[in-house]
Amino acid sequence: CGRSSGTMRPSLCHVPFLLLLLLHVVIARPFFPLPSKTSNEEKKPIQTFRPYNIAHRGSNGEIPEETSAAYLRAIEEGADFIETDILASKDGALICFHDVTLDDTTDISGRKEFANRRRTYEVEWANVTGWFVVDFTLEELKTLKVKQRYSFRDQQYNGMWLCP
Ligand SMILES: *[C@@H]1O[C@H](CO)[C@@H](O)[C@H](O)[C@H]1NC(C)=O
Repeated sequence: CGRSSGTMRPSLCHVPFLLLLLLHVVIARPFFPLPSKTSNEEKKPIQTFRPYNIAHRGSNGEIPEETSAAYLRAIEEGADFIETDILASKDGALICFHDVTLDDTTDISGRKEFANRRRTYEVEWANVTGWFVVDFTLEELKTLKVKQRYSFRDQQYNGMWLCP
């Protein structure tokens, strides 16, 4: 597909692609029906007549955020959705974690072997200093213990779960 220089004429070169896309949607639909069209009696369509309950980073008032225990607790408590955040480790593994730094929700500041890993990076137009997830391998991250971000939250589960 070329572009005619200097004109604003809309190009027709995307039409075959769009038709192909439409065809794909039309053909694929019977194979991948919408959840509400499936015959599975157990699964109910999303209930739109009431507000949703979204567990933000799991049930994080009770159990440290973004841990499998916090997600499980949210399911037990009847959350409709679980919100999570995904970050990449140094070796490209994806972990459920919110902050770009490990400082506020893990025991990293007390870990002498990682003391020299503290860095300053520009994050969203501000210089941030701390221990960054992206500087640690998954194996290293798994040695960390999580903790609550705020002192007013339940602290009894601190240190019980590894960083997922
Ligand atoms: C971050 O620090 C570096 C080095 O001191 C500086 O050049 C840069 O302007 C700083 N960035 C911001 C957003 O303050």
